[in-house]
Amino acid sequence: MSVAKKEYKRVTVRSLVEMKQSGEKISMLTSYDFSMAKIVDAANVDVILVGDSASNVIAGHETTLPITLDQMIYHASSVVRAAKRALVVVDIPFGSYQGDSKEALRSAIRIMKESGAHAVKVEGGAEIQVSISRILEAGIPVMGHLGLTPQSIYKFGTYTVRAKEEEEAKKLMEDAKLLEETGCFAIVLEKIPAKLAAEVAKSVSIPIIGIGAGGGVDGQVLVVHDLLGMTHEFNPRFLRRYMNLYEDMSKAISQYVDDVKSKDFPNEEEQY
Ligand code: KIV
Repeated sequence: MSVAKKEYKRVTVRSLVEMKQSGEKISMLTSYDFSMAKIVDAANVDVILVGDSASNVIAGHETTLPITLDQMIYHASSVVRAAKRALVVVDIPFGSYQGDSKEALRSAIRIMKESGAHAVKVEGGAEIQVSISRILEAGIPVMGHLGLTPQSIYKFGTYTVRAKEEEEAKKLMEDAKLLEETGCFAIVLEKIPAKLAAEVAKSVSIPIIGIGAGGGVDGQVLVVHDLLGMTHEFNPRFLRRYMNLYEDMSKAISQYVDDVKSKDFPNEEEQY
């Protein structure tokens, strides 16, 4: 079913609620640098997430835990310089908001002031409600993140699907409603059963953006390196690859090496 799309010169947190209300699905993708964000923005992606997944795909860490607030601000400011239309949301990294609400506010303010981003994202429900309220009181829009929350990976122990059991599903639904009541403008639901995600999306008025949460939600988010097939060893069921850039880049770079070695590059036209 096609839905009439409203043109947005600049996507705002209000635009996302309008999209939910009109049935237009929200597209969200990560970016961590200027060149990628320029392409993502020009392709009319509605929300660019400067995710702490930069810790994995850019820095090569196993988890999202090591990335620092300074590093997130560096990535975010590069993305903000490229994004002309998209709403730019930045993850507050692990250890910069869980301690106390004053620290959470300081971290959020630093992100907004030093990067020029439009909103922040935090992982968790009731346990971080006070921090979320404090950030919102300062006029900073907050996106929530429930389900598989990678900053708590050592609590879960694995990256498997969350909230399959009734008790965890009930807590997730309660947390989603709490985040809505607290004032979050949207929530990411990561790796939970599609049926539960669809129920959450129906139960709250704010947009629910899924990753591995099925098609019954209000939008989708992916890590851009996964979508482009650059992270070829990462093969979760929810991932649709639109390119095999790992292979294409490898071929191109090997060809360059061959051309240098064989003295084919540079040729007469490629010099001054
Ligand atoms: O950091 C990230 O990229 C994320 C998405 C997976 C939602 O939080």
